[in-house]
Amino acid sequence: MAQRNARWRSLAGALTTFALALFVAGCGPASDYKQSTLDPQSDFTRMIHQLYQVEYYLALVVFVLVEAALVYVVLRFRGKPDDPEPEQVHGNTTLEVIWTAIPALILAALAVPTVKTIFRTYEVPQGDALQVEVIGHQWWWEFRYPQYGLITANELHVPTGRTVSLRMITQDVLHSFWLPQLAAKRDVFQQRTTTLWFTAEKEGLYPGQCTEFCGIQHGRMAFQVVAQSPQGFEEYVAALKASAPAPVPVPAPTDSAKPTALAGTTTTTLGATTLVADSTEGAQLFMMKGCVGCHSLDATKVMGIGPNLAGIGTRKYIAAGWLENTDANLAKWIQHPQDVKTGVLMPNLGLTDAEAQTLAAYLRQH
Ligand code: CUA
Repeated sequence: MAQRNARWRSLAGALTTFALALFVAGCGPASDYKQSTLDPQSDFTRMIHQLYQVEYYLALVVFVLVEAALVYVVLRFRGKPDDPEPEQVHGNTTLEVIWTAIPALILAALAVPTVKTIFRTYEVPQGDALQVEVIGHQWWWEFRYPQYGLITANELHVPTGRTVSLRMITQDVLHSFWLPQLAAKRDVFQQRTTTLWFTAEKEGLYPGQCTEFCGIQHGRMAFQVVAQSPQGFEEYVAALKASAPAPVPVPAPTDSAKPTALAGTTTTTLGATTLVADSTEGAQLFMMKGCVGCHSLDATKVMGIGPNLAGIGTRKYIAAGWLENTDANLAKWIQHPQDVKTGVLMPNLGLTDAEAQTLAAYLRQH
């Protein structure tokens, strides 16, 4: 018996330690956890957070009252060893009506702000909102700014203080767009456009993530939102617009006019224009190794296969949020895409180390 008690005591001790460790682990400030909905940074998330707080504190009041009544009853009416058997009661209509009516009233009261908030989250902003089209792909995010005629991927820049209106679809399978600090979670479909909106309050980098299982690299389908000052955003837009190659007169298609590096290869018109504008080794590799078949470095061009690479040089992450955008990681990603993200559409192109580094250096300038 004594042994069994000791075992119970050590088990209780272990459980208490575990519970305390869990409690302490959850004690950091919400701002340390970037994908936390408890750290709202926009009007949209603040609205949801307020609702959450109302519900949380109401639940806390209910918990404290119910537990207090329970503890009081247990202690006050505790049976003694020689007490007679208590009177047996089967049902009490008054009590049952009370404990059905009170929760029903609480739920009805909660439903009012909840339903109101749900409707607000589905509003589509009017006026001066920044329009952004979001397209989910396996496994990256495309962002289009129809008001500016610009396209980018995986890193969405927005100005602070201006409402952003997102319209979202997917190119392939179901994905789910989740931007915890600025907006909510919304599934994206092929045949149906879903919407979200938010106004970023302060400058910063806000992580987002796909939250619908969408294939082998679902976990590596992240994105970043960069909130910047309106001035900073205008500069970003200007930089993306500048990624469009200046119109260059393309020479008449005679063999002698063909750039020598391209002799005997087929290229698209876009490729030819780019090459005329930039004949560095990196630019030539970008064309000859086939990158140009899926990627554009021009933010005004829709390619639709691979992510648009305009602004890639200054993005914080590459491979849809999976790798930090360092020269070494960029070269590794270009050279061994299937090792970095198994299953992505980007094939191994058989690049040498030197070629991968040259391409990385070339992309760094864009
Ligand atoms: Cu896209 Cu999971």
